[in-house]
Order: sequence, then C-alpha cells, then structure tokens
Amino acid sequence: MKIVVTGGAGFIGSNFIKYILRKYQDYKILNIDKLTYAGNLENLKEVEANPNYKFLKKDICDKDLEDYIENYDVIINFAAESHVDRAIYNPERFLKTDIFGTFNLLEITKKRNIRFIQISTDEVYGSIEEGSFDENSPLNPSNPYSSSKGSADLIVLSYFKTYKIPVNIIRSCNNYGPNQFPEKFIPLMITNAIEDKKLPIYGDGLYRREWIYVYDNCEAIDFVLHKGKEGEIYNVSSEFSIPNIEIAKKILKLLNKSEDLIEFVKDRPGHDRRYSIKCEKIKKLGWEPKVDFEEGLKLTVKWYIENKKWWEKIKKSKKFLTFYKKIYNF
Ligand SMILES: NC(=O)c1ccc[n+]([C@@H]2O[C@H](COP(=O)([O-])OP(=O)(O)OC[C@H]3O[C@@H](n4cnc5c(N)ncnc54)[C@H](O)[C@@H]3O)[C@@H](O)[C@H]2O)c1
Repeated sequence: MKIVVTGGAGFIGSNFIKYILRKYQDYKILNIDKLTYAGNLENLKEVEANPNYKFLKKDICDKDLEDYIENYDVIINFAAESHVDRAIYNPERFLKTDIFGTFNLLEITKKRNIRFIQISTDEVYGSIEEGSFDENSPLNPSNPYSSSKGSADLIVLSYFKTYKIPVNIIRSCNNYGPNQFPEKFIPLMITNAIEDKKLPIYGDGLYRREWIYVYDNCEAIDFVLHKGKEGEIYNVSSEFSIPNIEIAKKILKLLNKSEDLIEFVKDRPGHDRRYSIKCEKIKKLGWEPKVDFEEGLKLTVKWYIENKKWWEKIKKSKKFLTFYKKIYNF
C-alpha cells in the first residue's frame, strides 16, 4: 500500500509512520509536513534512512500539492493546528489549515480517485455532563480549534455524499505518549515537574478528558485503514476518564515531587467540562485499547526522563517561552 501521511512530523503522525513502517515492510509512506512550530523531524530519526519513507516539506493548503501526489492509494490527514489555547489567541491559521487544507486534500483525492482518512477529534461533539456521544451525535464544538475540525468533518462527509469519494473520519479522545509537544497537558505537567517548575492547572482542575496511549490510537487508525467501511465515522477512546488535577498528582507521585508544585490558574475561556465518547463501532472491527492509563503514564514519564534533550530545546526557545507567558501569565 502507498500512503500519503500529512502532518507526519507531529506527535500522532510521527508515531503512526513509525508504527506502519515497523509493521508492514512493503508499505510506502510519503510524509507531507509544513514543519510549523509543532513539526519536528527528530521524531522520525528511526525511519529517515528507510527506503520506504519519503519526506516533503509543504503546506497542505498549497494549490500545486497535487503534482506531488501520484500513484498513492490513500491520504491520511493528520496535519492541523492542534492546540486549543493557541486557537483562542490566533484562530485564523486554524481555519486555514484545518478547514481549507482539508478541502485542498479532498480535491486532490477526487482528482486522483483515491481514499481519504480524516484524523479528527472527540472535541467536535462538545462537552457532555453525563453519558457519552456516539458517531451519530450532533456536532457542538466550543472553540475555534474544535469548530475548525468539526467544519472539516462536514466537508469530508459532503465529498462522500456528493462525489462518492471513499472517506473515513476517526474521532479520537486525548492522546498521550512519546514525542508530544510540551505545550500539551501531560508533557507540560511531566517536564515542569522534572524541572521543579509550577504545574499550571486551569480553574478548579476538575475538567475531565478520556485518554488514550498514542500506540493504541495508531492501531485504531490501522484497523480503519484495513477494515473501515466507506463513508463511516469511528470514535476511538480508551473510555477511561480522569480529572486534570488527578493526572497532575499521579505525575508528581511518579516523579517523587511535592504536590506544592501545583498552581491553579485563571480558566481558559469556553473551556469544555467533560468529553466522552462511545466506541462500539471500532470495537466491532476488532480493535480494542491495550495500554491502561497507569501503565501508559509510567511509559510516558520514562520517555520524557530519557529524552530530556528533545524537550529542553523546545522549552528553552523564545517562541515557547513567549507563548507560555501569554497563556499562564508566569
Ligand atoms: N493530540 C491529541 O490528543 C489529538 C486528539 C484527537 C485528535 N487529534 C488530531 O490528530 C492530528 C494530529 O495531532 P497531533 O497532536 O499530532 O498534532 P501536532 O500539533 O503535534 O502535529 C501537527 C503536525 O501538522 C503539521 N502541520 C500544521 N499545519 C500544517 C500545514 N498547513 N501543512 C502541512 N503540515 C502542517 C505540523 O508541522 C505538525 O507536524 C490533528 O489533526 C489533531 O486535530 C489530536
């Protein structure tokens, strides 16, 4: 199989590329990535010499992108602006990449007559006090990130209905694991704790998310790639949820640090209280998560301890420090 992965230098995309090239020795991957602040080719060191892997530095919004995509079977679109806090301060680039970029890729898919898989998020359903959303639940996003992703999902579905393009949408819960950019919740908590810095917790800390180890999500995408039914949406979650404050405490315990490092900060505007999704559909394909949260968190903490150079460079950069100060005011 010949696969175009977009956004493959980011967190989930790079884990997915490594997973596929390890598992299928005859598959070929073209990774197209603009290398924004979140893209990092160091994530792909293990595959850069692999003859089945190619990299192209390009924006998914570029109109001439179709010239580079010939003789592929499928585009899997991971490329996105992905951080809610940044979306609140600068929504424009979220609308450009997450909506227009997806549209551009769909046009290429239509011309080349190939499959399209959109990597989406549970955030498109919005917050739910009790119970869980399934794939037929209405979209009710709350911020410019989730509404851009939700808009893209609707456009993807319209290409299935109007042009009969074989599409799938995968809506996963929060991922965690190796190579996640340290502005995101779990790596921020781990790296701040290692550095003996304060752990900023929004509001009362009782915001709840479901968490999946990134390897389990890669496997779920693999299931959809090989067994997914055309036009279908698949939710992907461990169905395990936990409040943010509890995660911070678990990380501090694993690192043998004091809970005094926790600092409550002013809440994020439009902050969704709880996300929860049902995953019966993907389970019917044979998938199930393998890594429980305790084990996944231990593996993740270990990875950040062993890969200090990777994240220290990012956290010391002026760009990161400016963003951090703006969001948390310290
Ligand atoms: N991380 C999560 O918890 C999570 C959960 C559910 C869904 N998702 C979705 O999964 C996908 C990947 O998320 P992630 O956490 O790996 O994100 P990330 O921010 O780590 O990586 C995004 C990648 O996309 C690239 N990119 C951004 N704009 C681009 C453009 N215009 N053209 C080409 N490349 C561009 C970046 O350089 C980067 O390599 C996203 O679509 C996101 O919405 C993420």
